[in-house]
Parts: sequence; C-alpha cells; structure tokens
Amino acid sequence: MLQECEKNVKFLKYTKGIVYLSLKKYESKEMKGLKNMHSVKSLKSEYLVNPIGIDVTKPRFNWIMVDDSCGASQTAYQIQAASTIELLNINKVDLWDSGKVASDQSIHVLYNGKELTSRTVVYWRAKIWNENNLESAWSETATFEIGLLNNDEWTGKWIGTDIVGGKNNTAPVPFLRKEITLNDDIASARLYITALGLYEPYINCKKVGVDLFTPGWTDYTKRLQYRVYDVTENLQKGSNAIGVILGDGWYAGHISWEGRMIYGDRPKLFAQLEVTLKNGEIITVATDESWKFSTGPIVESDIYMGETYDANRELCGWDKAGYDDAKWRQVFIFNENINLVASPGPAMRVQEQLKPIAPVNIRKDWSTTYNIFDMGQNMVGNIRVKMRGKAGNTVKIRYAEILDKGQMYTTNLRTARSTDYYTFKNDEVVEYMPKFTFHGFRYVEFTGISTEDILDITGMVIHSNMEATSEFECNDPLVNQLQHNIIWGQKGNYIDIPTDCPQRDERLGWTGDAQVFIRTASFNFDVAPFFTKWLADMVDSQNADGSYPSVVPEIKSCSSDGGPAWADAGIICPWTIYKCYGDTEILSKNYASMKKYMQHLLDTSEGLIRPPIMYGDWLSINAETPRDLIGTAFFAYDATMMSEIAAVLNFNEDTKYYTELFEKVKTAFLNRYVTPDGLIASGTQTSYLLALHFNLINEDKIPMAMKKLVEDMESRGNKISTGFVGSPYVNLVLTAQDRNDMAYKLLHQTEWPSWLYAVTQGATTIWERWDGWTHDKGFQDAGMNSFNHYAYGAIGAWLYSQVAGIDLIEPAYKHSLIAPKPGGNINKACAKFQTMYGQIISDWRIEDGIFNISITIPANTKSTIILPITGDITKNDKSVTGEIVKNGVKFELPAGNYSFKGCLQK
Ligand code: BGC
Repeated sequence: MLQECEKNVKFLKYTKGIVYLSLKKYESKEMKGLKNMHSVKSLKSEYLVNPIGIDVTKPRFNWIMVDDSCGASQTAYQIQAASTIELLNINKVDLWDSGKVASDQSIHVLYNGKELTSRTVVYWRAKIWNENNLESAWSETATFEIGLLNNDEWTGKWIGTDIVGGKNNTAPVPFLRKEITLNDDIASARLYITALGLYEPYINCKKVGVDLFTPGWTDYTKRLQYRVYDVTENLQKGSNAIGVILGDGWYAGHISWEGRMIYGDRPKLFAQLEVTLKNGEIITVATDESWKFSTGPIVESDIYMGETYDANRELCGWDKAGYDDAKWRQVFIFNENINLVASPGPAMRVQEQLKPIAPVNIRKDWSTTYNIFDMGQNMVGNIRVKMRGKAGNTVKIRYAEILDKGQMYTTNLRTARSTDYYTFKNDEVVEYMPKFTFHGFRYVEFTGISTEDILDITGMVIHSNMEATSEFECNDPLVNQLQHNIIWGQKGNYIDIPTDCPQRDERLGWTGDAQVFIRTASFNFDVAPFFTKWLADMVDSQNADGSYPSVVPEIKSCSSDGGPAWADAGIICPWTIYKCYGDTEILSKNYASMKKYMQHLLDTSEGLIRPPIMYGDWLSINAETPRDLIGTAFFAYDATMMSEIAAVLNFNEDTKYYTELFEKVKTAFLNRYVTPDGLIASGTQTSYLLALHFNLINEDKIPMAMKKLVEDMESRGNKISTGFVGSPYVNLVLTAQDRNDMAYKLLHQTEWPSWLYAVTQGATTIWERWDGWTHDKGFQDAGMNSFNHYAYGAIGAWLYSQVAGIDLIEPAYKHSLIAPKPGGNINKACAKFQTMYGQIISDWRIEDGIFNISITIPANTKSTIILPITGDITKNDKSVTGEIVKNGVKFELPAGNYSFKGCLQK
C-alpha cells in the first residue's frame, strides 16, 4: 500500500504531523479540515433509504465511505441510534451506541441496540475512522420505522362489496369511503394498508404516496404485503375523508390462460389509520362496517385487458369530507386469515415519462380515423393523454409493440385485450391515465377521436422502483443500442416480480428467465430489495416434494417441478444476490428450502442423472440438447453453489457433503455424456458451454471441448444456436477459454441468431426469439412472440465483466477485479458501476496500439487489476512494473483513481 500510494502517504504523514500539533494547540480548525477528508453518506437500512414500515427488528445498515484519496479505507465505525432526532443531536442516544468498533464493515452492519417494537421510529447516524485512524464527522441522520409486527395489532375487519364478475368477465371497480373528525391538529399519522387485489388510497382529495400496483403479487394464500404511509400532512383538524379504490389485480383479475379469480372472486381492503393529535390523543380508524362503497367511472379494469372508463359515472368529490354518500351502500365484512408482512421490496412507480417521437400513421377510412403514435421506445406502463371530448363519445386506445405494414400488430398479445376505453361526459378537455392495468407497447392507437382533439400524449414508464447502478458505453453504436435494449428489457419486466414479458396474457415470474438474467440485472440496477421479496415468493412456492415450480408465484398450470435451469433458480438466485451484495441473510433464510430442493434432485435422479423433463434449451435454433444432460449439469452446478453457501453459513459438514456430491454428479455426467477424448453428447453448443462453465470436464479435455464448440459456431457462419439455457454462458466461456476472438465475432454478428440482429431491425428491447421477425419469414408464431423478453439480454454480464472488465473477487465488490478484454471492433469502452461501497469505473481506449485506462476503486475496497498490456507501462504517468500473468500484467491496488498506459498485447 505504501508503494502504491506514495504521494498521498507523504501528504498524510505530513498532515498527521499537523494533527499531533493541532490536537494540542489549535485543535478545532485543523481537525475540521482533516475530518472532512472522508465522510459517510448514503445511509440505508435493509437496503432502503429511510424506510417506513419494515418488520425487521434488527435491520442491517449500509453506508458509503466518501474519500477519493489513495488507499482510503475504514478501520472503525460508530453507530448511534435514538428514538428522537433531538436526543441524537444532543448525544443522548437512548437506543444504541455501538461505541468505536474496529472493523472495516460498512455494509450489512446489524442493529444491536434496544429491542424494537411496532411503530418505533429510529434515528441513526454513523461515523468512521480511516486508515490513519482519523475520525470523520457524523453522517446525516437516517431513519427507519417499524411496521406492525404482529398480525393481531390490526384492529379492523376485511371489507369489500358484493360486486363480482365471472371467470372471464370483469366487474366494475369499487370506491370505498369513510369520514372522520379530528378534534385537534395532527402531530403524526400513519396509514397501514393492504388489500387482496390492488388499492389506491386517497385522503382529502389527494392520492397517498406515489406507489402503484400495491400490494404487489405474492401467493396470497401464504403471504400478503402491507405498506405504511406517513399521512401527517394529508389530514387536518376537523372533517376528513378517506377513500380507497380497489382493483382486481393479480388476486381476482386475469392471470395467464387460467382466467380470472385465481385467488379470490373480488378485491377486499384491510387498513388502519393511526393518528396522534397534538393534544396527545391517539385515534385509530380501521376498516369496518362503517365504511361505504359505490361503483364509479371505472366500469372495468384488468391488468391484461385494460380499463373502461366512463366519465359520466364520475363521483366528483367522493374523497372529500362532506360528500353526499347517502346513496352509497354499506360495505360487506369478510373473514380472511392471512399472514401479513411488511413489503421488503420496492413498490412500482412511474419512473420516467416519454413523449411520442411522431404520429406515424394517421389514416381514415369511411368511418374511422386511426391515430397511431410512436413512443420511440418499447415501454411498459400507461399513457397519460390530454384530449378534447365530445359528450358521450368513446375513445378506444390500443397498444402494440410493433407495426405490421403500418398497422397495429396485436396478435402476439394473445388473449390480452390490452385496450382502454374512455367515454366523455362533456366537451371539455380531460387528462386521462388508466389505473390497475399496464401495457407493453411502443405504438398507441386512438380511434373514436379526431387527430386535432388529441392534445398531448405522455408515456408513463412504470416499473419497480430500483436504483439504476450503471452506465456502459463503447465506440460501437450497435452494441450501445444492445445495452440500451437490455436495460429497457429489465425496466419493462421487473414489475414487482421478474416477469418473462409484459404485454401478452402471461407476465409470469418464470424462474428460468429470472436466473439467466439475474447477474446482468444486478449490474444494471440495485436489485437486492427486489429479490429479497421474490426469493421469499420462491420459498412460498416450493412444492412439498422439494421442487420449485416454473413460475413464482406459482399458478396451477405451472406449479409442478420447473425442471432443469428453471427450478435451479432456487439456488442460483440467492447465491447471485449474496455474491453481488454480500447478503448472507438471503442465504440463511432460503437455506432449508435449498437443501430440500437438493434432496429432491437426489430423489428424482437415477444414478445422479436428472430426468429429461420440461423446457430444455428453450428456443434454441436447430440444436436439441438432451434435457437430462442439461438437468445433470445444473445438478452439479447446484452442488458447487451449495458447498460454497454452506461454507458462508459455516455449515462445515454440509460443505463437505456438497463438495463430494459435486464430484459424484460430475462423474455421472462424465460417464454418461462425455467420451474419453472430450466429445460431449449431442454436440450442441449448449452441451459444451454447460460442461465448460460448470467445470464438468477435466482440464486435459478442455482443448477438445473448445475445439468442438468453436467448430460448431464456425460451421454456422460464426453464429450461436443456443436458447435461454446456453446463451448466458456463450461469451463468458469463450473469453475464459482464450477465444475472445470468437466471442467478439458473435457479438458483432448481425444476422440471426445473434444479439445484434434485432438491433439492426430497430429493436428497442430484447426479443423473446432470435427470429421474432425476419425478412424472409416475417413474424414468428404469434402464439409466442414477445418483443420485450429480457432472457437473451444476459449477454449484459459479459459486456460489464469482460468488455469493460468489472467483476468481483469478494462479495459485494469489496475486492473487485478489473480486467478488460478488448477485441473485435471495440477500441473504447467505459463502465461506471455503483456498488454498495461506491462507484467502480473502468474507462479504456486503444489509440495507435496503445491501451489507456482510467480506473476508480471506491474507498474501503481494493482491486486486482489485470491489463492486456506489455512493454513499458506507466501508472499515473510514472513507469511501473507489474506481475506478468497469462492475459497481461497484474496489479493489486487499494482504493483510488489510477490511469495506466501500455502497448496492447497482441
Ligand atoms: C415464457 C418463457 C418461459 C417459457 C418456458 C414461455 O411462455 O414466455 O419466457 O421461460 O415459457 O418454457
């Protein structure tokens, strides 16, 4: 470290000298300067910024050490927590003072103070000591608030209506209301709320919060999530009205091909408003028989089908005190016995807004004007439209991902009607955005309205609220567009659960899709809270025999064993979250379930060969990989992961057991599928890729396996044949096995099957199929042809980890690897990636055979750097020598900013 950071160390020594002097003499001024050299920011509890309503009584804290000096690291921390901000500010910490703890831990630091009970608000702050034992200032104060820890703290009743549709017919949306009088000003107020179905709460004419599609989708027979909102500002002294609109959502609306009412026949509400008045009085208003309901303008609403809105039925002022609800009816009471849990994951929200790039096709036939607008992006969400009406007129709004000869192509939506209707009550200008439905579309078509009356259209992009964590750019615009498409595939499909597609009558949590993409997903966004939620769904969905289903939350028709590469998501996903975020809790929470799954694999395999069930290498191109081969390969891979998971959790016996199991399954795999000279049964690319990526063939057979793999690619004209299962590993394997040249050939390939083919066809998201549309065949089978399916976007992990070269050695990038592997046409790439410790940057370019790179390693981490350079090398403009390794020159570096230069290795 001394050698690496010489310049800074000298400075620190010098400044340290001042410290000693200043400590004695003029402490405050000099000390302040030094303290400010490093600081603590971005405090989070359970991955969230100031969460309200968590049900974890010992939350885990994270913070980021801010200090860009070389070698900056944390050597100790102190956390203080108090029950009010005032107490914290005057150092009266009544909940917890950790004291100075000698540790470099700055993520997942467990709260270890007084026991916390429901409703407690905790104010906390952190400070740290750096590598020179200099103390930072206290961070800004962060908070978290505990929700209702026990289900019996909910005092209300489940309420609903007698409005029920049929198995296929939707029903009008109920509006529920209640008025309350508060005798004093409000000190604080919380709304605890959930529903079977979807809810949108309003207080005194204002929507509470910005969340959409709450409470999200869980298996409602096992777990129902609630949320808590601070509604102090929404309420007032005197009369108040609380209103809630209920949607069918996943609970009562259409899901897949199974029709409506999968969990229940109508939506129901469960809520509790707790108000503390300034005079100290506490008032609790819960859902009960005193609430009233009516139907209103939303005549029907369904996630797949869309919304029908009749403005003539609007209930003006329904969410305002004093509204005449004499004609409203009393709600019905329902007995529900459901396990209520706080929502650990992010809610869905409008995340960004798009404007149409152009009206693409405005066309009239003898009776109709078709107004088609192009949002310029295949997006998921809704539109907000400003339009001028004619009383009684109905506007029909349709959505399509793609046009077919200028017309809306909607056959690939299957039975999802994905159409909204709006009926005007008068000739005024209105602004309309549907609720409780979302569409996957690039094009939106309005009929029943003249073009001049469509005044403004905004695309409201909706997805789960995840922090974007990366930027990737290189000199090839096609590759940049691919990266763009990957990001948008994730945006459109991280909709409370990781779905396969967002537009047709499916939108399910396909486990296989989730596992192939999770590594890429964790580069693009902070997905730790999102998967904390979904991996609880995974445990809920596990079958009694230990298998995991094809989709999570499960549905009847997809509840049996998901089989190879799908069910294995139950091991791959928790393991990936652990690796990327250092989250051991996700491993311990899922461990019993994962062990049960491993036992299921043992029980169902014969001689450790897994049965040939389910989907195989889904959507591969003329390359059938045996399903038992895929299954057995994944079995071995699971065993490796389990041995590492057990080691993390200190279950040493299990580590031994799974290490041995891996060897046994590997032997079974070798015996069954690999010839003595290294040929693998079926000879498909996927069979070689799995064997190579999961370490299933012995070192001496690798050259033959690689030869066969590459030959197959070459024989197809430098193309892949892989489906969902093999594709994520194609370029990772080629690069790891010194065939980066072939990896780049495949990257740059523009004929299908390839990653760039869809890009050259104007795609703005990843397609479900390599050949979703081709010049010779036109559209693929409309029965299964989504244009927004992220699975093939799994190449993103290679772009980050190999092209930009950012990978991890220790979990959460505490020790990162920066090892770019240039090739093909790429002579410049830059990735900025926000880890839990701060931003890693790898920014390289090649000019006249010289490789230049700027690197940032965040404070409190270190990095191994392997650069593809040779000859005279400079680091920060000074000559330097590194360790010569296989693919270049290696340096071990502490945190800091660096630049290197050298001749590009041939
Ligand atoms: C889904 C896929 C899924 C597959 C399984 C499809 O209908 O869209 O993404 O993994 O079924 O076979």
